[in-house]
This record gives sequence, C-alpha cells and structure tokens, in this order.
Amino acid sequence: MSEHFSHDVLVIGSGAAGLGLILRLDPSLRVAVIAKGLVDEGSSKYAQGGIAAVLDPADSVESHVQDTLTAGAGLCDPATVRFAAEHGAEQIRWLNDLGTPFSTANDSKLHLTREGGHSQRRVAHAADATGRATTQSMVDALKNRPNVELFENHIAVDLITANKLGHEPQRVLGAYILDRKADHIEVFHARCVVLATGGASKVYLYTTNPDVSTGDGIAMAWRAGCRVANMEFIQFHPTCLYHSQAKSFLVSEALRGEGAHLLLPDGSRFMHKFDSRAELASRDIVARALDHEMKRLGADCLYIDISFKDTDFITSHFPTIYQRCLEFGFDMTQQPLPVVPAAHYTCGGVMTDLHGHSDIDGLYAIGETAFTGLHGANRLASNSLLECLVFGEAAAKDINLTVKDRQLIEHIPDWDESRVTDSDEEVVVSHNWDELRRFMWDYVGIVRTDKRLQRALRRTDLLVREIEEYYSHFRISGDLIELRNLVQAATLIIRSAMLRQESRGLHYTLDYPEMNNTGVPENTILVPPNFNSQAKPSRPRLSPNNTV
Ligand code: FAD
Ligand code: SIN
Repeated sequence: MSEHFSHDVLVIGSGAAGLGLILRLDPSLRVAVIAKGLVDEGSSKYAQGGIAAVLDPADSVESHVQDTLTAGAGLCDPATVRFAAEHGAEQIRWLNDLGTPFSTANDSKLHLTREGGHSQRRVAHAADATGRATTQSMVDALKNRPNVELFENHIAVDLITANKLGHEPQRVLGAYILDRKADHIEVFHARCVVLATGGASKVYLYTTNPDVSTGDGIAMAWRAGCRVANMEFIQFHPTCLYHSQAKSFLVSEALRGEGAHLLLPDGSRFMHKFDSRAELASRDIVARALDHEMKRLGADCLYIDISFKDTDFITSHFPTIYQRCLEFGFDMTQQPLPVVPAAHYTCGGVMTDLHGHSDIDGLYAIGETAFTGLHGANRLASNSLLECLVFGEAAAKDINLTVKDRQLIEHIPDWDESRVTDSDEEVVVSHNWDELRRFMWDYVGIVRTDKRLQRALRRTDLLVREIEEYYSHFRISGDLIELRNLVQAATLIIRSAMLRQESRGLHYTLDYPEMNNTGVPENTILVPPNFNSQAKPSRPRLSPNNTV
C-alpha cells in the first residue's frame, strides 16, 4: 500500500527556480517540495559568476535584450527576452532583502562583473559563490513558511494525469514519488504541479553539473504528453578545471570578464583568431575554439591565466576558486590553471508560456527544465539564474490566481508493484549509465555529424528497450529512474540535433557548417505521441514555431 499526501501545490525541485517560486506563493497554500537529495543540492548552489540584471544607470534593458538576442543567434523569443530583462533588477532587490550578501564596490553600490557576450558590466554576484549565497538566503526564508513541507531524499518517478487514469479533460493530478530511505513509492495529490528539476547535463561524460542534473522533469513531462523544444542546444562551458580528482569543478567565466587570458600549452593566446572579442566572445564560440585547438594539438587541456593580476584582487574576487584550486595543487595567483570544456547547460526543455505553464493544465515548468524562448541557440552567461527567478515569480503569481479553481482528486491508485521483483543485476544499470554518457560525449558533443548522430540514436534505441524491460520486471531504484530519464533526454537531444540541418549557436555540425539564413529561423519542437492538443490551455505562445 502506498502512502498518500495531499497539497495545493507540489513543487518538484528545490533549486533557485523551485525556491524562488515557493517564496512567492500565497503563504496560505499548502505546498510540498520534493528534493532528490538535500534541499540545497542542485546546480543553483554551485553557480559562481552571478545573475545578469540591469542595475547600472549606464546600462539599459535595451542593451541587455540586444546582448541576449545576439548570443541566441536568431532563435530567442523577443517578448520573453524583454520580459526577463525588465524584471531582472527587482529579483536582485528581492534577494538583497532576503539577506543575500552581494559583493559591493568601494561606493557600497553593488559590484557588477562582466562575462562573455555582455556589452556592459551587469552581473550581480556574491564573490564567486553567488549560487551558495542565494540558495542559503532562500532556504533560510523557507523557515518562515509553516505551510511548506519539505521532502528530502525523495525522487519523483512520474506525473499522474487525468488521461493516464482514463479521465477527461486532461490535467495534472499529482506524482508518484520514491522515498529513497524507506524504499517505498508514495502518491502525492496536488491541484498544481511545478517541475523545477534543473537540466540534463549528466547525460554527458564530462559536465560541470552535480549528479542531480539527469533531465528528470523534461523526461516526465514528455512521457505525460508535453512538447519539448530546442534540445539540440546543449551549452558546453569552456573552462572546467582539468584534474582527475576535481569532479566537475568550474572556473568561472567571470575570470575572463576580469581580464584572464586563455592560453595554448606553449603560453600563447589564441582566442583573437576566432573572434574579435577574444576571451569575451560568447560561450559557444569559446568552447568550440578550445575544442578545435585541443584536437589540433592533441592536447589534453588548455590553460586560463589571471596570475598577472594582483594577488589581493584574485583572492578577494575569486576566494572559492582560489581555495579549491590550491587543494588540487594549483596556485592561480602564480600560475595558469589547466581547463577543458564540459557540458554545462540545457537550453531547451519543456515548452511553457510567460507564466511557466506547460501544455498540460495545472502543470508548470520553470528554471533549466523549461523552454521559455529566453536563450535561443545559446544562453548568455548569468541569464539562467535570472530566468529561474523571473519565471518562478511569474508562475507563482499564476498559481496564486488559479489554484483554487482546480480540484484535488482523491482517488488515485497506488503504484503497482505486484508484478516486479528485486533486481539481481544492478550492473546493468551502472553499465548503461557509463555507456550512455560516453557515447553522448563522443558522438553528440561540441562538434557533430549526421553519421555520429545516427550511431548515437541506434544506441539509445537499444538502451530504451533494455531499460523498459528492466523497468517492468524489477523494483525501481533511484539509479534506474535517473537512467531511464537520461536515456529519454539523450534521445530528445539526438532527435532534435538530427532535425537541425545547419550550424547555429551551440549546435555545430560538420555536415552543415553554415547557418541557414533563408527565411525565419525556427525552433525544433518535438511532439510526444500522446500530445493532446485539445487539452492545451488557450494562452499566448511565444515563438515563431516549427512543429515537427
Ligand atoms: P537546480 O538548481 O539544478 O535544482 C534542481 C532541483 O531539482 C534539485 O533540488 C534536485 O534535487 C531536484 N530534482 C531533480 N530531479 C528530481 C526528481 N526526479 N525528483 C525530485 N527532485 C528532483 N547560471 C547563472 O545564471 N549564473 C551563474 O553564475 C551560473 N554558474 C553556474 C555554475 C555551475 C557550476 C553550474 C553547474 C551552473 C551554473 N549556472 C549559472 C547555471 C544555473 O546555475 C542553473 O541553470 C540553475 O541553477 C538551474 O536552477 P534550477 O532551479 O532550474 O535547477
Ligand atoms: C560562470 O560563472 O562561468 C557560469 C556562469 C553561467 O553559467 O551563467
């Protein structure tokens, strides 16, 4: 027998998007928040550079909009971009009021740093640990919310929808959730469900992301019948520390914003050969340049150097990176740091409107899980935390207005475990995890070809069959849930990449190395077999869409 829980709002994910939303919900609403691990474990906690917002009188919304559109290479939705840029400054004020210790300049105004693709200094930050500072202030603020119940070490398995239970009209009713400690699946009933589960970068062998980034929300929404867009645009961050023990440690783009150079093994600079903005070109260009030079030279890594700046400047601006690198034997005040590109951010995701609402009534998607149209073919640095907060707030406002119109459904069946047994071969799961992440890195990475994509798709097809068989015979575990979702996310990435027969932003293919400049650029929209167009609420959609 499953245990049943009922809440007004079920929020799956407690990163910047989930926490930002919860703190803007009407305090009288009963809210459940689900986290795979501890409340603060997610990409948000590891964010370094900061949050982009128009805060300097010399800056303007227009300029932020323009920089975002330029980075997005023709695929950003202009209305979404403007909405985010216009609401940025108030998010920083809100975090400031919660007690986030943003770095200040000598005049005690906020210190703004710069990152690639930004024409202005507009990145508010808390030294080089912006994510830790913002997450902490939001987690602290949760303590004043008695109606919010936190379920840590719980992992959502699948959404429960009316159609799945054979009812009309289609809407979300809740989710099946595995309590990892009790090893038991529970049923969560809710009037609204919010997917705030982060991105899918763990699908790649090398990533800056923590273990939780397995694309669960995207996969669950797809299985439930939501459209998913632009999954081919996976952002690779150029500078992940290269050290066998330094799992996923990022060296922030803010180093380059403050003047750091990228170097070849012989100590020479090279970025000016790829872009007139050199080290401050947008991330797609810099990551591709590193990949090119590493392959050309057969080098295992390249280098980032800021050691020519004052020691005090380095240690006060980048205390976390300085300390962490010292632990690995690198003193960045004295020497360049070895770096490699790694998968960093999922630009595509669950299609939503300006309120974070998806194709299914009552189901919202926010943060890295969502596709709002903000990032286009390449996300501008520090626009992600901005998106989490702006659309988290917009979704909260929509929920506050509409939640009471949605009934709680009492009769949801227990999770059926009657036909499964305990797995006798966990090695199948770990083997498939490794295989998937390696071939995604090799075949669907920074540089793609049709042949590599076809190879990858053949492998995911096999994995899908094997995992579904395993899934239907054995009792599910956290690892199996994640593997199933990773394979789903990988399939969506590969299928989207195959459909884009051009190179644009983060999607670069040797078979079509040029951007297609004929006609209006189109998003890649994948439609699931169970998509119910009748159920789609009549709300404004945002982009010039190409439905495939
Ligand atoms: P996350 O913060 O990843 O949170 C996901 C949440 O979902 C977690 O609580 C997790 O437990 C939960 N979850 C996932 N699946 C399930 C499931 N099945 N069941 C239950 N819970 C689940 N962006 C910027 O704008 N500025 C930066 O400076 C910056 N620096 C970055 C540095 C690093 C190292 C990384 C990795 C990313 C950085 N980014 C930055 C990107 C940005 O941090 C992320 O895009 C953003 O934090 C995502 O927030 P989120 O709330 O959507 O997801
Ligand atoms: C960084 O600090 O380099 C990451 C910034 C981002 O991903 O936006």
